[in-house]
Amino acid sequence: MTLPALFDNLRIPLIGSPLFIISNPDLVIAQCKAGIVGSFPALNAREAEGEPIELDRWLTRIKEELDRHNQANPDNPAAPYAVNQIVHKSNARLERDVEICVKHEVPLWITSLGAQEWLNDAAHGAGGVVLHDIINNRFAHKAIEKGADGLIAVAAGAGGHAGALSPLALIQEIREWFNGPLFLSGAIAKGDSILAAQAMGADGGYAGSAFIATQEANADARYKQMIADSGASDIVYSDLFTGVWGNYLKASIEAQGMDPNNLERSDPSNMNFGADREKPKSWKEIWGAGQGIGAVKDVRPAADVVERMATEYAAARKRLFDQTA
Ligand SMILES: Cc1cc2nc3c(=O)[nH]c(=O)nc-3n(C[C@H](O)[C@H](O)[C@H](O)COP(=O)(O)O)c2cc1C
Repeated sequence: MTLPALFDNLRIPLIGSPLFIISNPDLVIAQCKAGIVGSFPALNAREAEGEPIELDRWLTRIKEELDRHNQANPDNPAAPYAVNQIVHKSNARLERDVEICVKHEVPLWITSLGAQEWLNDAAHGAGGVVLHDIINNRFAHKAIEKGADGLIAVAAGAGGHAGALSPLALIQEIREWFNGPLFLSGAIAKGDSILAAQAMGADGGYAGSAFIATQEANADARYKQMIADSGASDIVYSDLFTGVWGNYLKASIEAQGMDPNNLERSDPSNMNFGADREKPKSWKEIWGAGQGIGAVKDVRPAADVVERMATEYAAARKRLFDQTA
């Protein structure tokens, strides 16, 4: 099975994953120009009442800047961009946002939480490719049955909402029946890990936390630095903060006066991904991150992060080839 032509121009087989609040047009444009897919959650583009629709403005800007880059660099075109739709009843903007993405002919759609046929039909009608993110094989079947073109397998160790399964087990089970586009999410922050994802049977990696510690990311400077300073044992898995299990930086929980090793369980009926999402005040600075952040040593421009991963990826391939030749 070959990947859709959309992925032909990637420098390394990697998608920069959507990050709530954090992904913005600057980050997406930098990722795409550097040669990996850049993405953002549609919900990140918010306007005050009566103002022009921010999602429309973001998409116009991303397309214009990438077109300009492609005209100036015909031999080094940008990777495609993606928009993430949170498919949950609390997302009251979903239909409007889908309409805007159809109008802009968004090339890659990433859907999370719910798989919906009408949304896949809308994306396909506009020439888009849809990847749905899942945390187990049952949801993977459901997503493909509903018409998604490919899957993002969110394994244990991912930042934000994460699965609990080993990536080895998850990819193995999906590849028993699915030979379409498949990207692996969870603790990928190094070029070596992208190659490992391919060795397991995925088409590439999906990385979020490594791009939080970039100059372009819309995140508090202390959050970026905490990622650069932390490793796998500084992460805690909890369902308290959104009702869904996810990985968070222990130090950010401690800073809010809570004990990360003794967190309560949450009530899932409180899940809310709407624009009006309200959290207790003390949760505003609970920061999500995956277990792979040991690879992140400092805060840099996103292009440097891609450059580092591309260098590591090439070195890992050579090392493996030399060992097995
Ligand atoms: C702070 C944060 C916010 C996130 N927000 C979203 C989101 O809005 N939509 C989504 O589909 N995934 C979201 N994710 C999950 C990522 O897209 C991705 O699965 C994850 O970052 C991959 O693991 P890694 O961080 O170890 O690379 C978020 C992750 C983090 C860390």
